[in-house]
Amino acid sequence: MQFFSLFDLLSYTAKEKDITVEEMFSFFHSKKIKKASILELQQTSYIPDDVVFREAICEFLDMNDLEINIAMGHIPQKFRKSYFDNVKKIASILSSEVQTSDFNLPCFFETDLGRLYNGDCLDVMRSLPKECVDLIFADPPFNLGKTYDPGINDNASMSQYLSWTFEWLDECTRILKPGGQIYIYNLPKWCIYIASHLQETLTFWDWIAVDMKYSLPIQSRLYPAHYALVSFVKGTRAHTFNNQRIPLQTCRHCGGEIKDYGGYKAKMNPLGVNVSDVWTDIYPVRHKSSKNRKYNELSVKLLNRIISMSSNEGDTIFDPFGGSGTTYAVAQLLNRKWIGCELGDCEIIRNRLQHLSRDKEQLNKAQEEAKYLFPPKVEELRKQNGFWICSDFSKTSEDFENERMVLNINANSNK
Ligand SMILES: C[S@@+](CC[C@H](N)C(=O)[O-])C[C@H]1O[C@@H](n2cnc3c(N)ncnc32)[C@H](O)[C@@H]1O
Repeated sequence: MQFFSLFDLLSYTAKEKDITVEEMFSFFHSKKIKKASILELQQTSYIPDDVVFREAICEFLDMNDLEINIAMGHIPQKFRKSYFDNVKKIASILSSEVQTSDFNLPCFFETDLGRLYNGDCLDVMRSLPKECVDLIFADPPFNLGKTYDPGINDNASMSQYLSWTFEWLDECTRILKPGGQIYIYNLPKWCIYIASHLQETLTFWDWIAVDMKYSLPIQSRLYPAHYALVSFVKGTRAHTFNNQRIPLQTCRHCGGEIKDYGGYKAKMNPLGVNVSDVWTDIYPVRHKSSKNRKYNELSVKLLNRIISMSSNEGDTIFDPFGGSGTTYAVAQLLNRKWIGCELGDCEIIRNRLQHLSRDKEQLNKAQEEAKYLFPPKVEELRKQNGFWICSDFSKTSEDFENERMVLNINANSNK
């Protein structure tokens, strides 16, 4: 366990000393430190500077400043040289304590392309050989205190949640093939730690902001309006990038473009604009009729974009947190192999994979939408309201393709 919050380190020590958290607060109270000041340390890795506070913490933990830093996973700058000089000694102490075990999990359900395990993703990943998957997508519980199936704790302390997160991320890293890509969908609050951990072994690729449609304000903070979709690559570059296009954003009442493209209209590809790292066109699956289960579920459109962009037919996709099985359904429909697991109810996923017609409909819709700069209905509306449409300019999508190929040839011959 790594302690990311001093509060967790204090509570852990209280437990080790066999005293209650209230008794811990009384200890600090006797040093004139308020309970509220201790509670404020819950969601941060900040170690207070105040001398009195710091001395009290050292006394309670029976640790000096350096020991506290190490317990929280930091090596202060001035100790880094001696840390590196002693790496062998440290590694041998650490590895002598690790226990290894073999996992051989039975499969819950199989299709011609995929297999699903009903179990803990850590056990499943540990049963897989290294470098066996091309793409990983993970949408873990966000630790927001939501109710999931029995056995799933969505209300862990900061240190518990991050230690667990790093454990499954390390296994994902092990099973990812060189050139393969991993995407993690989570709150920015957790993605900053996730990105910082992954950059130790992988290469940062993208940070995508996925517009959150219906969020609630939080007191004394900015209104949260996006989820983070952070992506890393094993090695120095991704082996697959299939460019994705989307329609230009337009007003649904008049069809006018939301952003002004000024003189660039004639340069726009009739097949759509390149997807950027801000995704405003992903809608949550909310309505009962389109949901596969009562808990949160991602849209087919989101998974279609990720899987189409970062894998090819025949590649293997892994998602450690099955949920309702969106990743597996889309992978199956896009002719990708897949490996899945879910600790809770797997019946919902089996049922979904056995009846893919609704997912196929949604996939077709997402693929159809992504074919135009202006989908037919929008084009009609624009014509009615006197806005320009693609045929006002002479270039066709083939002209754009040819131009792109010439540009690529020139770029390659200049290398
Ligand atoms: C946010 S949901 C995933 C939703 C999914 N992306 C979808 O579109 O339906 C997270 C899922 O992870 C599962 N889960 C939590 N901890 C797990 C673990 N250790 N191993 C496997 N599954 C786990 C939960 O039961 C939950 O269904």
